[in-house]
Amino acid sequence: MPYSTLLTPILNFLQCQTPDAWIDEAKKPENLQLILTDHLLCELKAAQSGMFLIRKYAVDKESSDALLALFKPFEEFVYKKQGSLQDLLKANNLTKAIVPKSDSKYGQDLIDKMVLLIKEELHHFNQVLEIMTNRNIPYSNITAGRYAKGMLKHVKTFEPNALIDKLIIGAYIEARSCERFAKLAPHLDDELNKFYISLLRSEARHYEDYLTLATEIAGGDISERVKYFGEVEAKLILSDDEDFKFHSGTPIKQA
Ligand SMILES: [Fe+2]
Ligand SMILES: [Fe+2]
Repeated sequence: MPYSTLLTPILNFLQCQTPDAWIDEAKKPENLQLILTDHLLCELKAAQSGMFLIRKYAVDKESSDALLALFKPFEEFVYKKQGSLQDLLKANNLTKAIVPKSDSKYGQDLIDKMVLLIKEELHHFNQVLEIMTNRNIPYSNITAGRYAKGMLKHVKTFEPNALIDKLIIGAYIEARSCERFAKLAPHLDDELNKFYISLLRSEARHYEDYLTLATEIAGGDISERVKYFGEVEAKLILSDDEDFKFHSGTPIKQA
C-alpha cells in the first residue's frame, strides 16, 4: 500500500494539518538534535502509555512485573543516562506471555494490541537512538511540551469513560505523529526521509488499534467524544506555542 493511501484516513481523522510554520522550523538543521531527541522520548512515552494502560486495567501480577522489567533499562537510559544502545538492543525482548488478571473486564484483545504496540515503540526508540549514535548526537533529557497534557486534562474521572478517553487521546497522538512524519520526511536527508516513511505503517496501525479498542470498550457510538478531542487536539496544533517540540503548536516567530 503506498503511503498516501495509508494517510487518507489519518488526514480525515485529524481536524487540521500541521501548519507550514512548524515544518519550516522542524527542517532547520540546527533543530535536528532537538527533533531527534524529542522523537526518541516520544517513542518511550508511547510505549509507556501502552504499558500503563494494560498494567492499570488488564494484566495479572506476573505480567505486570515482566512489563516493568522490560522497561527498566530504557527508563534508566532516559532518566539516569545509564547503559548504551547495545544494551537496549538486547533488552527489547519480552519472553513472558502477558495475560489478563482474573477479574479483568478487559480482554486479551486490549493486551495483545498494546503488547505489540509496546514492542514496536521500543524498537522505534532503538532505531532513533541508533541514528543519533551514528551521527554523534548526544542524548540529553528535555522537558515535555504541552501537547499530551493539554489533552489528558480533559479525561473523565470515572470508568470506563476515563479509559475510553485515554484510548481516544492515544489515537490522536499516533495519528498526529504519522501526519508529521509524512509531512516532514521530504525535507530531511535521505536516511531520515526513509526512516520517517518507514514509521508510517506502524503508527497508522497504532492509531487504528486505539480507536478500535475505544469503540469496543465503549460498546456504542463514541463519535461525539472523538470529535471533542479532535477539537482540543487541533487547537493545540494551530495555536501559538513558545515551545518547539515534535508535537508543538504553531511556532512563534523569533525576531
Ligand atoms: Fe513509534
Ligand atoms: Fe506508535
